[in-house]
Amino acid sequence: MKITIIGTGYVGLVSGACFADVGNTVLCLDVNDEKIAMLKNGVIPIHEPGLDTMVERNAAAGRLLFSTSYDEAMAHAECVFLAVGTPPDEDGSADLTHILAAARSIGQRIETPVVVVDKSTVPVGTADKVRAAIQGELDKRGSTVAFSVVSNPEFLKEGAAIDDFMRPDRIVVGSDDASATRLMRQLYAPFSRNHEKLVEMDVRSAELTKYAANAMLATRISFMNELANLAEVLGADIEAVRHGMGLDPRIGSQFLYAGMGYGGSCFPKDVKALVKTGADHEQTLHILEATERVNDNQKNVLFKKLSRFYGGVEHLNGKTVALWGLSFKPNTDDMREAPSLILLKELFAAGCRVRAYDPVASSEALRVLERDHGAARVEEMLTIASSATAAVDNADVLVLVTEWKEFRAPDFRHLAQTLRGKAIFDGRNIYDPAEVAEAGLAYEGIGRVSRKAA
Ligand code: UDX
Repeated sequence: MKITIIGTGYVGLVSGACFADVGNTVLCLDVNDEKIAMLKNGVIPIHEPGLDTMVERNAAAGRLLFSTSYDEAMAHAECVFLAVGTPPDEDGSADLTHILAAARSIGQRIETPVVVVDKSTVPVGTADKVRAAIQGELDKRGSTVAFSVVSNPEFLKEGAAIDDFMRPDRIVVGSDDASATRLMRQLYAPFSRNHEKLVEMDVRSAELTKYAANAMLATRISFMNELANLAEVLGADIEAVRHGMGLDPRIGSQFLYAGMGYGGSCFPKDVKALVKTGADHEQTLHILEATERVNDNQKNVLFKKLSRFYGGVEHLNGKTVALWGLSFKPNTDDMREAPSLILLKELFAAGCRVRAYDPVASSEALRVLERDHGAARVEEMLTIASSATAAVDNADVLVLVTEWKEFRAPDFRHLAQTLRGKAIFDGRNIYDPAEVAEAGLAYEGIGRVSRKAA
């Protein structure tokens, strides 16, 4: 099939590469010349495991094309995916500027029937707006060409997006048009073989399903974070509690990990947008409001522990803090809403020097930090280390922010000799408190009893 994908962000690029990999011819369009030039030269703008080789393979086979031209993209398409960004507006609602601009560009050009597929996460009712925007353009030029608008939300986890696309748990298709649904079935058949994964529903339900799923996952995390803070004052260990809860199949063991709060491009934005949608319809979404509040608070928890460890924030001045991990989670260089950004802001304000190491996110982190704090301030306060070991050289304490695999089994004895303050702050509960204490280091986790160095 011939597919056009509008938007070569992380969703558009992954979807385009995966559709091409099963034999479709895919044209990826972006209005950003620079990005398209990079992609044509085989440079992938994001870090996503497996994506570079998949893009290379399909581009070489002529199945994956890149363009900035809407004329070319529309002449190509039987099916057009909208995968442009929907950043939050100031009031938290999703900004539909890009999606509606793309819809108008489609309406200005289509000559033969197409199916337009909303893949971006968009508020309930957006498909109707997209339909109206396309129709408006068709009316202007007196065209009667047929088109349908379908909702097909993505459920891709960064860092595992290729696998999520190739072997999905479910494929949600919201459509009010039987022939468009048939086309979607055909398109997704290679990813759904032997086990039917495609779930059909009306357009609005599909739009809401995406928000509902993300809001539920975010709520589970905030629930566990709140419980972790309680466990700590009660002298319980949230890790034992998590294990004991998760074995109940009604609860399940995934997404129960207490930590530094959820970040990323989806959960914070989608929770906000759903709360705003509720407010627009005179409905207060109490649980989600609390989910968001708990998450904001959680991003400060480690800094508070650090201040307490040193007997007050004023004693942090002049300390050197080693940070392991900067990205919002492992296997990505994405810094959007990363808890590390909040921690860094507080450390800088307290007068701490930071030595940070991240396997892939350092340059993206520097870009974001320089934008937020200015290059001079960042240069003064932050050193990017070339390895995990180099980050702890000359540092007072270690803070584990992102649970990259390479941080899982450090040499605690070496850390005990190196760190002046002899303490580890484990923001993801990946270490065994007893083992750390035995090595001669104090241990602070999330929702667990603190340990003194043995
Ligand atoms: C998420 C959804 O999982 C995906 O289905 C959707 O399409 C997009 O949003 P992503 O943002 O890539 O994907 O990250 P995810 O792996 O879901 O993690 C989100 C955040 O929650 C991260 O900051 C992570 O560290 C945190 N998290 C996750 C926890 O704190 N505890 C957990 O148990 C799980």
